[in-house]
Amino acid sequence: MAANPRSAGALSYIAVERSEKQRQLHPEGIESVGELAASRIGEGFTGMVVANELLDNLSFAPVRWVDGTPHYGHVDVASGVGSPCSAGDDELVEVFLPRPERDSSYLLRGRSRYDQREAGDLIDWLRSDVFASGKILVFDYAKQRSEDVRVRTYSDHGRAGEPLIGLGTKDITIDVDLEALQQRFGPPTTTMPQAEWLANHGVSELVDEGKAIWEREAATGGLDALRAISRVREAEALCDPQGLGGFTALEWLV
Ligand SMILES: C[S@@+](CC[C@H](N)C(=O)[O-])C[C@H]1O[C@@H](n2cnc3c(N)ncnc32)[C@H](O)[C@@H]1O
Repeated sequence: MAANPRSAGALSYIAVERSEKQRQLHPEGIESVGELAASRIGEGFTGMVVANELLDNLSFAPVRWVDGTPHYGHVDVASGVGSPCSAGDDELVEVFLPRPERDSSYLLRGRSRYDQREAGDLIDWLRSDVFASGKILVFDYAKQRSEDVRVRTYSDHGRAGEPLIGLGTKDITIDVDLEALQQRFGPPTTTMPQAEWLANHGVSELVDEGKAIWEREAATGGLDALRAISRVREAEALCDPQGLGGFTALEWLV
């Protein structure tokens, strides 16, 4: 919205966020909804869905392979099975059980260590039921190979260790498994690091423009000049290859 492109008048911008608390933080003038139901945007939607750090946040199940059969992770209060993790007064354990009723076509046979069907189902739903034409654009931490996928926990903007310790006090997320997604949908139209995607989409021009505004208006001060010069630091953070710049940008044209 800050970029205010020439096409702005032709666009409707809808922010989708499940958490009501987060929705309340959205700025004035933004339409916020809790769910992108097909009915909300109507059939034959033409446009773009941008999922920024969403897929890592959808629920997933840990998987172990026993004699070629997937066993799915469940959490139990310690009864001597699995490896115990201390969580306050409780000892929580991960227990792996077969679930023959569960469709295992989301998994790479014998290799996947996590079942990320919710991420796959979301993309499937967008592609099959929602879009007439457009683009799905995903920014997220992702791994090219299934075996490199790991759980990541966060609290207060820092990594937060074992998922079952202090359950409820941290966000439990996961690297997006590109290999499993690719098995289902074929390769995305494009895949590249976020830093490269931003470079292709003119981040340096925006930074140069910000510097020029600052040079012109710094003397008179004002918020616009400060906002303009803060693009320099923002772009550095977004393009840092050790940080956000190393995230993956995926595009599916539909
Ligand atoms: C890491 S945050 C990213 C937030 C936002 N997209 C951004 O760019 O700042 C992930 C967010 O996804 C939301 N979320 C998780 N599952 C969701 C779902 N099924 N539909 C909508 N939002 C969801 C969570 O509440 C959380 O705020």
